[in-house]
Amino acid sequence: MTVSERPSPPSSGFSARRLIAIDDLSDDEIHYILNLAEYYAGYLKRAAPPPRRLAGKTQINLFFEDSTRTNLSFDLAGKKLGADVINVPVSASSVHKGETLVDTAQTLSAMGAHVMIVRAKEEGLHKTLDETLDCPVVNGGAGKLEHPTQALLDAATICSEFGALEGLTIAICGDIKHSRVAGSDARLFHRLGAQVRFVGPENLLPDSNQFTDISRFHALKEGLDGADIVMGLRMQFERMEGDGRALAQGFFDEFGLTHKTMSYAKPSARVMHPGPMNRGVEIDGTLADDPERSLILRQVFYGVATRMACLDALITKGI
Ligand code: CP
Repeated sequence: MTVSERPSPPSSGFSARRLIAIDDLSDDEIHYILNLAEYYAGYLKRAAPPPRRLAGKTQINLFFEDSTRTNLSFDLAGKKLGADVINVPVSASSVHKGETLVDTAQTLSAMGAHVMIVRAKEEGLHKTLDETLDCPVVNGGAGKLEHPTQALLDAATICSEFGALEGLTIAICGDIKHSRVAGSDARLFHRLGAQVRFVGPENLLPDSNQFTDISRFHALKEGLDGADIVMGLRMQFERMEGDGRALAQGFFDEFGLTHKTMSYAKPSARVMHPGPMNRGVEIDGTLADDPERSLILRQVFYGVATRMACLDALITKGI
């Protein structure tokens, strides 16, 4: 898939004013962002400077939780488009003097933010900020609820390999219950026409009244049968109630992604992982590093291009 000309925004315009959840975007807006991501990926592949669409705009990255990929790719994405990017040093900020997270965000917004990227474990914070701030709020990860830009970059990566998601079978494996990526991926992939499956032990799958249109498998062999994409997830111990480390005992033997277990999927199947990976816990290092089977580093590459697309779309509306 190549997009050499700048895509046009949807004919009805790009009206989303926030990106907190995948369902903040219409189908047309999703396709626009994916096309724009591929357009920007072209600049990144050629190491050519992209248009400075965000010159004079201020982007604030406010990460109350740790991040490598999301924080730094948003940083790079904004800078490549010419924005002034501020990465708030949360550990050295006045949050530790008792200021609320909302007051911190409002203070930063008053400095003239045109967009604010927020990661937090509090699942209602993004909605409150959206109601409070004048600028668009982008969810860089909300508890175990949503991580919409990860889902968009995952879809862009899949499009780069398979052309589209329509008709693909995508198995999301491992700790789905505590994953914000799994939720956003499942919603987006389903909307883009893929058959999505959850594969994992019962105690790591969402409650049965959630994601009722997604099929569930408790054995890797059946869950991976016929899959085009196998998406591994790490154990998100930090979001488990109590000490979840016992859940990791024996997990790799039953659900670990290896070259052997990938043979249950289609011969052409690719493995993905949003990162950070725990090698030997949910995925074997030789599979993760195998350029014939793994799209994991390509996901990181598309992280920058896709976040460029999201920032551009939200701030300029494609005009
Ligand atoms: N996938 C992801 O969100 O990675 P980081 O936690 O490093 O941002």
